[in-house]
Amino acid sequence: MLARINSYALDGLNGYRVSVEVDVHSGIPKFEVVGLPDTAVKESRERVRSAIKNCGFYDTPRKVTVNLAPANTKKAGPIFDLAIALGLLCSTEQAGIDENKRTLTTIEEYVFLGELSLSGEVRHINGVMPMLISAREHGISKIVIPRANANEAKYIRGIEVYAVDTLADAVSLINGNRFAPIEKSEIDVNSVGSAVEDLKYVKGQYSAKRALEIAAAGGHNIIMIGAPGGGKTMLAKCLPGILPKMTEQEILETTKIHSIAGILDEDCGIVTTRPFRTPHHTASRIALTGGSSSSRPGEISFAHNGVMFLDELPEYPRSVLEILRQPLEDGVVTVSRAARSVEYPANFMLVASMNPCPCGYKGSATHECSCSPSQIQKYMSRISGPLLDRIDLHIEVDEVNYDDLSSGELAESSAAVRERVNVARGVQTKRFAGTSIYSNSKMTSEMIKKYCELDSAGEKILQSAFDKLGMSARAYTRILKVARTIADLEGSEKVSAKHIAEAVMYRSLDKAVR
Ligand SMILES: Nc1ncnc2c1ncn2[C@@H]1O[C@H](COP(=O)(O)OP(=O)(O)OP(=O)(O)O)[C@@H](O)[C@H]1O
Ligand SMILES: [Mg+2]
Ligand SMILES: [Zn+2]
Repeated sequence: MLARINSYALDGLNGYRVSVEVDVHSGIPKFEVVGLPDTAVKESRERVRSAIKNCGFYDTPRKVTVNLAPANTKKAGPIFDLAIALGLLCSTEQAGIDENKRTLTTIEEYVFLGELSLSGEVRHINGVMPMLISAREHGISKIVIPRANANEAKYIRGIEVYAVDTLADAVSLINGNRFAPIEKSEIDVNSVGSAVEDLKYVKGQYSAKRALEIAAAGGHNIIMIGAPGGGKTMLAKCLPGILPKMTEQEILETTKIHSIAGILDEDCGIVTTRPFRTPHHTASRIALTGGSSSSRPGEISFAHNGVMFLDELPEYPRSVLEILRQPLEDGVVTVSRAARSVEYPANFMLVASMNPCPCGYKGSATHECSCSPSQIQKYMSRISGPLLDRIDLHIEVDEVNYDDLSSGELAESSAAVRERVNVARGVQTKRFAGTSIYSNSKMTSEMIKKYCELDSAGEKILQSAFDKLGMSARAYTRILKVARTIADLEGSEKVSAKHIAEAVMYRSLDKAVR
């Protein structure tokens, strides 16, 4: 007898329905899975057979053919286990029939997702959140998922989601025993992330703090340059504490990616605080972009709507830094897998730190720099001009002086700074309502023209900075965007000369790297 069970799969962030057809017929006993399955799907044969036996059902000695349709898409992972097991049980009449052996129609109402353990437990799978959102768009109204994924399902309205612990639970459901779907909750957009460091403990460094505040307010990329021990790493670690709260849209976008990658906190099921990712300089290209044998996203996408912090930037191989250029420009990353490629969003704020030279003390008031000009040049050339062009704020972090360091007074707290950042972000949310962007840093040329109109005094400052610093066209738009954020922090509708003057100050590396 042939049984058909609905399941679901992802291609990047988009989902599609998979029909799992199971046929049991006479012939040499064999269990075959067709329809472009990868090895994880093929191995599901062993899991399904054990799970069936260990849940008190019997395994058939006949020939079993499982077809995953549509056959032309590559099916990855163990998420079809549950559907395959149910198909096998239905086709051997152990489930899905009434006492008169009539097939129950309830089976067709549901979509089943889940990996099975040998004992028949339904295990956590990746990608539940994007699958639910996509399934809802495709008009699917009932879906069965592993209990371990229940928390990410809480926030998706408009679709009934049933959590099961075991294969036996799922059988009971298709046999007509209804149980309550998962209760839905509201997304709490006001939850605030915690940071490892608080700005109140950072002594001095007023201009660096100011630049960090601007960066957080407008979502601008920032690089901190300075001698060892000035507090660059410390300042970067303060960032999560001043970043603006996420909008519901941003929360869902980021959660989808973390869900696919399997890095979502199971207890919470949703990402409500901006990611702060710190990939090591030895991280591989694939770890950053994602891809390889699976189309799993990488660090670049994990940082979506949050921060990617690259400490000691010149330590990163140039090839790795080059990878960042495209996502920094377009906010997406293309992940290739065999002959196909998928796109994931990768809209992050880049925060980097570096020393000004190999010894670290170029320009230092307290230490002598021991580097030759050619060493310095070689060091600076590790980061490319085009990458630096994409960084809106360059900020020099000087060594802290003794008076600042020894003062017992606490500085302004991260919480207080975040208040101002939230207000400035609120202005931007209103400004960009109805568009696909959320912050000044992502403005298109048309938006820059519309929202960063300068008066003649502003024009003059910009022009003279250009002549003096030999800036690129990209630096020009960066300055305008940063000036817009500075004006927003001040509550000013217009971008005026002083906003431009401050923004120009944050381009100190334009001359150093060419
Ligand atoms: N401005 C500061 N206020 C308070 N403590 C500071 C400050 N700057 C540095 N420190 C102290 O010095 C330690 C080292 O600072 P940090 O690692 O942030 O420096 P860095 O600029 O990243 O140096 P490196 O270039 O060597 O990485 C901090 O953990 C902190 O204890
Ligand atoms: Mg450091
Ligand atoms: Zn030096």
